[in-house]
Order: sequence, then C-alpha cells, then structure tokens
Amino acid sequence: MKTYFGNPAKAVAMTIIFVLIGIISKAQTKSSDAKMNVFVANLMSKMTIDEKIGQLNLVVSGPALTGSTVNTGVAEKIKKGDIGGIFGVYGTNFISKAQDIAVKNSRLHIPLIFGLDVIHGHRTIFPIPLGMSATWDMGLIEREARIAAKEATGEGINWVFSPMVDIARDPRWGRISEGNGEDPYLGSLIAKAMVKGYQNGDMTKSDAVMACVKHFALYGGAEAGREYNTVDMSLIKMYQDYLPPYKAAVDAGAGSFMSSFNTINGVPATANQWLLTDLLRKQWGFKGFVVSDYTAVNELSAHGLGDLQTVSALALKAGLDMDMVGEGFLTTLKKSLKEGKVTQAEIDLACRRVLEAKYKLGLFTNPYKSINPDVESKVELTDENRKAARETAEHSFVLLKNKGQILPLKKSGTIALIGPLANNHSEMLGTWVIAGDPKKSISVLDGIKNAAGTNVNVLYARGSNITDDSLLNARAWFFGMKQERDNRPAQEMIDEAVATAQKADVVVAVVGESANMSGESASRSDINIPETQRDLLKALVKTGKPIVAVLFNGRPLTLTWEDKTLDAILDVWAPGTEAGNAIADVLFGNYNPSGKITATFPRSVGQIPLYYNHKNTGRPFDDKGAAKFKSDYIDIANSPLFPFGYGLSYTTFSYGDVKLSKTKLKGNETLTATVTVSNTGKYAGEETVQLYISDPVASISRSVKELKGFKKISLQPGEQKEVSFNITTADLKFYNNSLKYDWEPGEFEVQIGTNSSETHSASVQWVK
Ligand code: NOJ
Repeated sequence: MKTYFGNPAKAVAMTIIFVLIGIISKAQTKSSDAKMNVFVANLMSKMTIDEKIGQLNLVVSGPALTGSTVNTGVAEKIKKGDIGGIFGVYGTNFISKAQDIAVKNSRLHIPLIFGLDVIHGHRTIFPIPLGMSATWDMGLIEREARIAAKEATGEGINWVFSPMVDIARDPRWGRISEGNGEDPYLGSLIAKAMVKGYQNGDMTKSDAVMACVKHFALYGGAEAGREYNTVDMSLIKMYQDYLPPYKAAVDAGAGSFMSSFNTINGVPATANQWLLTDLLRKQWGFKGFVVSDYTAVNELSAHGLGDLQTVSALALKAGLDMDMVGEGFLTTLKKSLKEGKVTQAEIDLACRRVLEAKYKLGLFTNPYKSINPDVESKVELTDENRKAARETAEHSFVLLKNKGQILPLKKSGTIALIGPLANNHSEMLGTWVIAGDPKKSISVLDGIKNAAGTNVNVLYARGSNITDDSLLNARAWFFGMKQERDNRPAQEMIDEAVATAQKADVVVAVVGESANMSGESASRSDINIPETQRDLLKALVKTGKPIVAVLFNGRPLTLTWEDKTLDAILDVWAPGTEAGNAIADVLFGNYNPSGKITATFPRSVGQIPLYYNHKNTGRPFDDKGAAKFKSDYIDIANSPLFPFGYGLSYTTFSYGDVKLSKTKLKGNETLTATVTVSNTGKYAGEETVQLYISDPVASISRSVKELKGFKKISLQPGEQKEVSFNITTADLKFYNNSLKYDWEPGEFEVQIGTNSSETHSASVQWVK
C-alpha cells in the first residue's frame, strides 16, 4: 500500500494519532461546554425576569445609524441591567467607560457585548467586499478579516456585523457591494474564510471577535433590486443557490447571525420560525444567538403582523434572541409573559444564548479583554496593515478592456488625470466605513504622482462633478452629508478637461460611482455612469487621445457605451485606504491585474436579473443569430457584457483541451480533469482557472452550469502549467424536487476555462 505517509505502518500510526486528536478535542469541547453551562445556569439562577429581558436588548450609540430610531438614556439602562449590548460605537474611551458601568454599577456585573459594522476593515480600509471577492483569494480575504479583528478588538469591539453572505443577482440592489456576488460556491468559501479570520479559532483570544453572519436570509433576492423589498422564491432555488453561504458560515463555527428585513414565503425573516429554528438550528445545528436587524422587530408591524407586543412575542417564539434598537423585547416581553403569550422557557433560552456568547468571548473573565491604550500607535493603520490593504486592492481590480495593450502605462510622456474621483479622498473607501478616516486614504492623483517618477508629466483637471442629478444627489448623500462639489458650470469644467487632455499622450479618466451610490438604501434603477460624467467622457473621446477609464463602482454597471468607445477600463470598485497607490501599481504594471468579476455585468438594466448559472428554458436562444419564438429579447442580446468570472490580464493565457482521467465512472470514484494553461503574452501574470460542471439531463431542470472549483496560478511569459481538479460525486449533488440533496446518474460535462462563458469541455458518464 503506497500512502501519503510513505509506508503502511506510518499511515496506521498517523491515523490513530488523528483519531485520538479528534477524540481529545471533542472531549475538550464537551468539558468546556459543560463548564459554560454550569456558569450560565448559576448566573441565570440569580437573575430577575427584567434582567433576563435586559440581556436581549441591543442599543445603538454613536454615529453608525442606519434607521431613524435612536436609543436614549443608555447609561441609566446599563446600570439597571436593561441592556445586553451596544453597537455603533468605537474608541477605547467610550467602550471602557460603558463597560465600567456594566461591570461595576449593575447588580450582577454582567459585561456588555460591543458590536460594530466592521465590514471591510476597521481603521485600515480594504476594498469593498464585492471587490475583495474578485480576488478569488481566500488567503487575502481571511487576512483582511484578521487585520480588521485586531484593529477592532484593540478598541474594545468584540462583535462584528460581518460577513454579509447574501447572494445577489441584481445589481440595482445597492447592497450587492457588501457581498460576494452571485455564486453560492465562491460565496461559501468566502463566508468560511471570513468567519475564520474574525474568530481566529478561539473567541477568548484577545484579538478575536465574534462574527455575525447576515442577513439571514435571502435579502439579496429583493424584488426589482429595490431596497428592503419582498423576497419570494422556490425552495429549490433557495437551497441550491441562496442558502449555501449561510450554511458554510454555520459550519465554520460562526457565533451569531442577524435576521434579515425581508419576508420569505410571506413570513418576515425576523419572525420566521421555520427559518430561525427549524432550518438554522435543527437542520444546520447552529449553536449561537440570533440578533434582529435595525428595528426589524418593530417593522414586523408594518409587514402586517400586529402591534409591538404581538410582533415581539412572535419574534422571540420564532427563535430571535436579541432585539436591535427597537426595544420591543424590553418593553413588552414581561407583559406577554404575564398574559401567557410567551413562556419563561422562551425568555430563558434567548437569555442563555446571549450569555453564552459573552462567555465564549471570555468577557466574564476579562470584560475589557482586548482594550489596548496603544491601539492607535501600535495596531491600527500600521505599515504592515496598509501593505496588506494595498496588495488586496491590487488583486481585486478587474481589467475589463485593454485595446491595443494601452495598459500598462509607460513611465514617460504626459498623462492627463481627469475626473471627479481623481483628486479625491472621501470616495476612496467605499460604503460602510464607520471608523476609517478618508483623510488617511491615498488619492489617485497622489498615488500616480508617487509612482510615476521624474520622466512622467502628470496633469490634472476635475472635469465634472460626480452627479448633477438632483434626486440622486439628494438621496445618495444622507444624514446631512453633501457631495463634494465644484460649483463651476459643467461646460466650464469639461472645457478645462479637454484642454488638459489635448496636452497629454494618454488620458486616465477616474470616473464612476461615489461611495454613497451603493450600499444600504442605495438601490438604483439606472446603473450607468452618471450622465454628467458620461458627458465628460464623450468630450474627452472627441480629442482623439487614448482614454483609460479607472472605474469606481459598488455594483456591476452598464458599460456598453464605454466598452465600445474607450480604450481601456480598469474596474477598481472602491479600493480602500491605499486606493491611489494600488491603482498606480496596476496602471504602471508593477502588478499585473488578475481580478475576475463575481457578478455578471449586463448590457442593459432590462436584462436583469442576469447570472451565469441560469436555466436553459424550453426554448433556449444562443445569441448566434435572429430567431423567432425563442427565449430572448427583440432589442438586445441575451448574453451579458461581461460574464461571471471574467477579467483580463496584461498578458494572455491559452487553454488546452480538457483531459479526463476516465470517461466512465461508477459510484464513489474520483475523476481528475486536467488542462494545460500557457502564458502566451509578454508579462508574468496570474490566472484563476475555473471549473464548471453541467448536468444536462436530470429529474429537474438544472442550471446550465455551476462553478465547482478554481485554482489561481502564476505563469512567466512562455511558461505553461497543468492544472488538475479532482471531482467526486459530492460535486454532482443538487436539491431535487423533494429537496433531497443527491446526484443522479448520467452524462456530465466538465468545463474548464478563464471565465464562465469561455470554457473547454469534455463529457463523462457517471453511474451509481
Ligand atoms: C442595518 C443593516 O441592514 C445591517 O447590515 C447593519 O449591520 C445594521 N443596520 C447595524 O448597523
């Protein structure tokens, strides 16, 4: 027997060791669970009903408001034991003072849990999640979560409202920016990596935070991409395409979940017993606690479920443990208990889950566990953290177009840097940045000047504002914030930009969305670059100079005109603190772009929802020619502008045929599929080789293909590598009409390629 360990005796010994390690670690978990149970039971035996309900109350303080309700009298409530946790605050000063009140002045000295929306970094800001997902690099993503956790814990935060793992297929929805795109396989890997990065294997560690997975569930399926809208989908779609990332986060040990705002099959998630108890806890074995979203319990009334007392009882009974901001639990549960509308056991269960979370974080041993007075100088925004943010940003950029290899830019001649986002700090960080300081970010102009060297002459003109649309302007900037505007007439700015462009060899136009144009409460019905910037681009095109667009966006945009007209498009999302440096690195070729989009870019908003893993339909249309009575449009192609998984490089890669280890398989055999990938261009580069499987005949209509694996490889010019994937029947499974997860024998097509549309394929027969 030839084994991984070389000889059989060694293999047996290693197997015994692994089994023993398994038994010991299970025994350790059991004994620490037993200790926790004794501790919590003992504490709860001393608690009054008011104190128990108090633990279920999460209040907001500080600047991070995402609703119109704000809590008051926080210090008094902490003293009384009316608060289990606070969120929205940061900074050692506030947090240690609030914790002081809880552990010194409340009757039972129960510590508070401190939450915050740490979404893509705390002080050092990384690319927005949609951008990070475009790296397809779990190492980079886990490291981001680790760095964010270190910075946040240093200030006393021990709970982060992240990762957001909602699958989204509708780029009109502003929150697509906060997630990982449209694919459940990739989304599940990212969910795991982030939970691991935050929780660090043991939440008592001083630099670990508890993850809060959100938004449970299906929030990304909001009808028409309109924020907070209804979700209604089949169970098969739910299980197959939308639920896997949440499940992956449970399997990774996520400590908490946040319920979503939307309804599911008519029942709002926050009061959905099937969702919060049957699925999450009974089917998936989740052991942590569930918090509502911002005033989501109160909003059950607007959903039509009853008055505050009724909906609070419904939410508790459904399996919700903590009420964010609305204080429905705090103000009504005791009355409901007296009236027999909830039971003592239901309140106790929720309270126990919240206390267990605090125990798991080690807060009863050290309520200030992570607060570090030197956090600012020693932990936050360090050179190392900035370096990591810069590297992650570079890897997240997606080269959408590069006509005539205009990029990378030469380090000589004159560059005209033009656009409302070119000399800007505040828009570099993207949506959901609470503690990140825009002043510490690197603008594109600064980044380019730093990198250009003495042979390059860099000119700058603003060219336009981000938008001149008064409705967009009023609705995107909120809470008194204002778009940084230049008040000159639009034409004057364009004229200045054109004059600047005329003096240059190449124009770099830094355009797109501002940070506030995506994220929460930022759905758009038109996902073009704002008109005023289009006008600027049109004027620049007329100069005849080559135009490179550096595109900021929190969502896929419709870029049909830009793709037809401009020479190059580099999608940089919102890159974070190191924006300008990372952009300069890629523009000048110090890093060869390798990002691949994780959400389809449509040609027009009318094609939405548009995603790669769609069904074939009974009348499929392949865009190859006109045809009547097919599933198509009469005014536009079916295909996207840029498909899922798409992204260019400064070099070119060619793919050989897919070679299979076998073409007939049985049962639990493993299939190996191999392709040879060659670097046929002039630059060293990285390529994400993608594996898709299609199951053309089954008991239900299956998606045309599904991502099942990927590998990121580096190749020198002229170099080639064989890339292999091992495929088992686990990769063939799907939810059938009875929601049974299994595979069905027959023919399968193995497709490998550079994106979801350009693949090479080979078929296999696989029988049971
Ligand atoms: C509302 C958002 O939906 C959620 O993602 C966020 O975590 C909470 N507000 C808290 O800020």
